[in-house]
Amino acid sequence: MNSVTDDIIYTGVDDNKLDMFEGQYPAPDGMTYNSYVIKDEKIAVMDTADVGFTSEWLENIKSALGERQPDYLIIHHMEPDHSASLSAFCDMYPKTNIIANSKAFAMIDSFYGSGICKNRVIVSNGETLSLGKHTLRFIFAPMVHWPEVMVSYDETDKILFSADAFGRFGASGAQGLWEDEARRYYIGIVGKYGVQVQALLKAVSSLEVKIICPLHGPVLRDDIGKYIEKYDIWSSYKAEESGTVIAYTSVYGNTKNAAELLCGELRQRGEKAVCYDLSRTDMSFVVAEAFKYDRLILATTTYNADIFPFMRQFIDHLTERNFQKRTVGFIENGSWAPMASKVMRGLLEKSRDITYLDEVVTIRSSVNEQNKQQLSHMADALCE
Ligand code: FEO
Repeated sequence: MNSVTDDIIYTGVDDNKLDMFEGQYPAPDGMTYNSYVIKDEKIAVMDTADVGFTSEWLENIKSALGERQPDYLIIHHMEPDHSASLSAFCDMYPKTNIIANSKAFAMIDSFYGSGICKNRVIVSNGETLSLGKHTLRFIFAPMVHWPEVMVSYDETDKILFSADAFGRFGASGAQGLWEDEARRYYIGIVGKYGVQVQALLKAVSSLEVKIICPLHGPVLRDDIGKYIEKYDIWSSYKAEESGTVIAYTSVYGNTKNAAELLCGELRQRGEKAVCYDLSRTDMSFVVAEAFKYDRLILATTTYNADIFPFMRQFIDHLTERNFQKRTVGFIENGSWAPMASKVMRGLLEKSRDITYLDEVVTIRSSVNEQNKQQLSHMADALCE
């Protein structure tokens, strides 16, 4: 088993069979459900694991504890990917005190029935718990990701047990940059709650953090400021990079042609441009890209006097996550009554600080010479 420090042991599990996290986010590299044990004069277990891993997780706990019994189980987040093994834990260790806030205990009752976990200790925001050498401070982080979420700060080893925050998709050993799957995870799951994430960042800004132990993904040790900076950017809805995302739907390939022509025009100008077919790329990947870059082109057909369904769904995903502070342009296609740009702009009406490109490119069935010139002008406008 891996050690985080001399007396903090990783007791989490890998889920390599997961197809969809929370029923909607593909997890091609699996997922971890992290848990930790602090071995001190008193022993604290940090969170449990998903229901499919109860036995494996309990074996990890037993292996970490040796002959000792846990004094505390600390529940940072009640979502079942972290709490579903609670009942089995309480059966195995009936004398252990269960530490959580009042909202979490209310959720325990509604998820698992009020009969489980008799030894309950309710903690308040800012309260501390001494384990001996280690002192944990509980910091409430409502809506990062659920209302009962709290994080713990180990004042001794300067470790932030951050609940879902700073997590990412991917089982242990998953390749790729942390930020790519952390961004998709963050935007998908917590993106709507930027204000609340900012509140958490403010609460921990005065703390020295040397290690972050999230509930998903790797333990973060080096260059902690880099991870906090990413969370600051994401939660304040700023773009991370200069570049254009072109998100399109296409029925017969003509709107796709326009999207790819624009992509080529931008790249010819030395600009970063990425192009996605919303019918064939999972929505969560494109949504994360739209939040990464500072410019977005939406290209779709008029469809049933509205817009193509995947584009409507995509814009819904953006707006429900408070998409804002971006430059947006439209390409519409319509053989007899094009109205897609009007519909798309209407769907973005409540999004704040959006700068719209003046010129809409309107295609009547297929791209003509005039459209090619318009796409070239659109590329110029995006480069201004
Ligand atoms: Fe990893 Fe919000 O649960």
